[in-house]
Amino acid sequence: MQGFMTPPRKLHIKSYGCQMNVYDAQRMVDTLGAEGFVETTEAGDADLVILNTCHIREKASEKVYSELGRLRVAKEDAARAGRAIQIAVAGCVAQAEGAEIIARAPTVDVVVGPQSYHHLPELLARAGRGEPAIETEFPAEDKFSLLAKPSRDAIRARGVSAFVTVQEGCDKFCTFCVVPYTRGSEMSRPVERIVDDVRQLTDNGVREITLIGQNVNAYHGDGPDGRPWTLGRLLYRIAEIPGVARIRYSTSHPNDVDDSLIAAHRDLRAVMPFVHLPVQSGSDRILGLMNRKHGASDYLKVVDRFRAVRPDIAFSSDFIVGFPGETEEDFRATLALIDQIGYAAAYSFKYSPRPGTPAADLQEMVSAPEMDERLERLQALIDSQQSAFNKAAIGTVVDVLFERAARKPGQLVGRTAYLQPAHVMASHDIVGQVLPVRIDSLERYSLLGELVTAPAANSRAPISPAPFLSIGG
Ligand code: 5AD
Ligand code: SF4
Repeated sequence: MQGFMTPPRKLHIKSYGCQMNVYDAQRMVDTLGAEGFVETTEAGDADLVILNTCHIREKASEKVYSELGRLRVAKEDAARAGRAIQIAVAGCVAQAEGAEIIARAPTVDVVVGPQSYHHLPELLARAGRGEPAIETEFPAEDKFSLLAKPSRDAIRARGVSAFVTVQEGCDKFCTFCVVPYTRGSEMSRPVERIVDDVRQLTDNGVREITLIGQNVNAYHGDGPDGRPWTLGRLLYRIAEIPGVARIRYSTSHPNDVDDSLIAAHRDLRAVMPFVHLPVQSGSDRILGLMNRKHGASDYLKVVDRFRAVRPDIAFSSDFIVGFPGETEEDFRATLALIDQIGYAAAYSFKYSPRPGTPAADLQEMVSAPEMDERLERLQALIDSQQSAFNKAAIGTVVDVLFERAARKPGQLVGRTAYLQPAHVMASHDIVGQVLPVRIDSLERYSLLGELVTAPAANSRAPISPAPFLSIGG
């Protein structure tokens, strides 16, 4: 704890990559907040800078080292002015590279893997005494019950939409993916702990809960009956919590879509009809090489099961182009699958070999120009589907959860069921409410419209936008 006269230490945290990192960053802020740190948006002001890193592709990983180069200069400048700055590397690069990070960037004081964030205060103290402070173990204890809970003010400042981790790690071992190595094997949190977290959020103005996990629909946490519950069953439980207007979950694997999940989509209004369901490729040959354990037709069947109970459901996906050995024919099978499904959105990536993964040993690399060309063609197709999907909203009335003031004075922004941003001229009082909006036009990816009915007065805390990035997959 802080002494009486000590000014609070300032913490700046920069997150890369997925939603899980955004969530983990908040939990680190909460945990260090309990130690007297306050968050600052300015790295230059901070006594402690944490880089919360991503290892999924080479580009993401390399960003860390360029950032560390800049921080080294800032740290040296501060030291000359008599001010100490501590630098910590967290996240999946920390997990994957451990002590190598300090060998390559000696300016780093602490290296902490995703399973050890509750040890951050102790690691910082160790580094302060000049002792080694590297922790990348997978400890047996449940870190979630050891990390500090957010304060009421922190929840309110973060807005009406919040993430809750329900599951971590992955046992699927897709041959291109580092997640099973950096996040470890599947672990599900008990139902009652999740329910407590959601209650605390909704008690403080949160209306939308996104349950997150690298392989979220492999969820099998202990229920109050002492038995493992599925994600579908968990959704029914979350939907009962007062204040929960919307529930989402991410990221799902097609092989783990069971009947309870489909039933939850059928029965629960709060479960949004928008599912992130990565397929990676449409070629059975490439899916085999990726060790996805499903073919394109299996994926289509899963999509059909969702559509049978919710005809208004929409999908997003992740795609990798240029997996080793991918031919033009394989790639066309991916385009054909995209054509068949019709996505509302998708993320697409060029294959990036990751050290230690089985695919990194495959020799038959697709050339860089071919990868670029395929990525461009795939993105053009997805863009056309996304804009057709967005255009289809014009002239309809859609429910919007209002999140915060938009840039334009008097305008608010919220999101539709499909996470489309919707802008409306309206009073700030409606932040936190779900209200019907008639969509008049489309400006790039944003819908513009007007409220259909006069809202009831209800004030909510301001919010920062919640990015929606894929995790795991
Ligand atoms: N190269 C390119 N993309 C990858 N992804 C995961 N690993 C790699 C890799 N080695 C993508 C997948 C996954 C998303 C989170 O990142 O599409 O679903
Ligand atoms: Fe697991 Fe997704 Fe990575 Fe496959 S791509 S190993 S399912 S996290």
